[in-house]
Amino acid sequence: MDSKYSLVDPSGILSPSMLVFRELVDRNLRKMIAIAGNVNRLRPHCKTHKMPAVTKIELAMGITKHKCATLAEAEMLADCGVKDIFLAYNLVGPNIDRAVKFLQKYTDVKFAVTADDSAMITALSAAVSAAGKSIRVMLDIDPGLHRTGVLPGPRAEGLYQQIVSSPGIEPGGFHLYDGHNHQTNLEERTAAVMAGWNGAAQLRDDFVGRGWPVPRIVCGGTGSFPVFAKLQDPAVELAPGTCVFHDSGYGTSFPDMDFEPAVVMLTRVISRPTPDRLTCDLGNKAVASDPPRGQRVVFPDLPGAEQVLHNEEHIVLQTPLAENYKPGDVLLAIPRHVCPTSALYKQAYVVEGGKVVDMWDVTARDRFLTI
Ligand SMILES: Cc1ncc(COP(=O)(O)O)c(C=O)c1O
Repeated sequence: MDSKYSLVDPSGILSPSMLVFRELVDRNLRKMIAIAGNVNRLRPHCKTHKMPAVTKIELAMGITKHKCATLAEAEMLADCGVKDIFLAYNLVGPNIDRAVKFLQKYTDVKFAVTADDSAMITALSAAVSAAGKSIRVMLDIDPGLHRTGVLPGPRAEGLYQQIVSSPGIEPGGFHLYDGHNHQTNLEERTAAVMAGWNGAAQLRDDFVGRGWPVPRIVCGGTGSFPVFAKLQDPAVELAPGTCVFHDSGYGTSFPDMDFEPAVVMLTRVISRPTPDRLTCDLGNKAVASDPPRGQRVVFPDLPGAEQVLHNEEHIVLQTPLAENYKPGDVLLAIPRHVCPTSALYKQAYVVEGGKVVDMWDVTARDRFLTI
């Protein structure tokens, strides 16, 4: 295992567990700021860590704008002292009342949400203005992911006009998330990201020409981050999330980026059922089971090990190296997808200088905090 993950004495660390390597988190954040060129261009997404401790490190590094996906994450950010929060989610049903409660509780927070539907904007405007509040609304533009949002065109125009003219609503600009742009080749990725950007930028120019304010365009995730970061447009806000912890999935997909996996799973061998099999306590309740099967984690000390079974509390590895291990032995594994993995843990061990120095809460793994 790479020496940056060495542990002086893992004997007291529970397994399975999530270890956060503090120095690597700091390094990833510093790289993120360097790529952005200016800390004020950043609006990192907290969905990867969901942790007050990481949010406070970001604040201490001067990152004041933050992005999230759930009201619990928004509340976690606000409780850490974040004053500019963008919940990149369309509010429907009881979430509209929760947003009003959020505005009432955190009166000094600038709070933004997305919308891509007229009835949604009407409902939000009615609820927020009845409470005497105002909310910033970002029109969700679809750059080709086809998950949410509208394509640049007449529908986008009608919706933004509604946003501009609705009581209780402040036009916040656009949200442009292109999570489909995972091309490994940077040139191909750049061309795809720019195609999405150009549509949004033209629409912005058109709207600004009509006198409609479009103060910001919140762009992309980790994959498109270096591309958006090169744009000189003052409206651009950069919203990477995963690179704060990074993982083996993005490490493979984006060889042009030098973020380092800062989260590692600690597991123990619990059985050697056959001479070439090791069973460890790292089931799919301990590390995310994102596809593809058989590649949910990377065991750097077991190159070529085949992940032949992944059950709730067991992972079974087929490897000729099995003979070197016995029950109780510790193995470290890098998750393929760290974001849903961190949500599986109430707390993470924090490692610094090879030693456990703290435990950090994964507060926003819960969907409901107080609101
Ligand atoms: C809307 C939105 N913005 C930003 C991000 C961050 O992207 P990444 O995980 O690639 O850093 C995500 C990730 O899921 C997202 O859904």
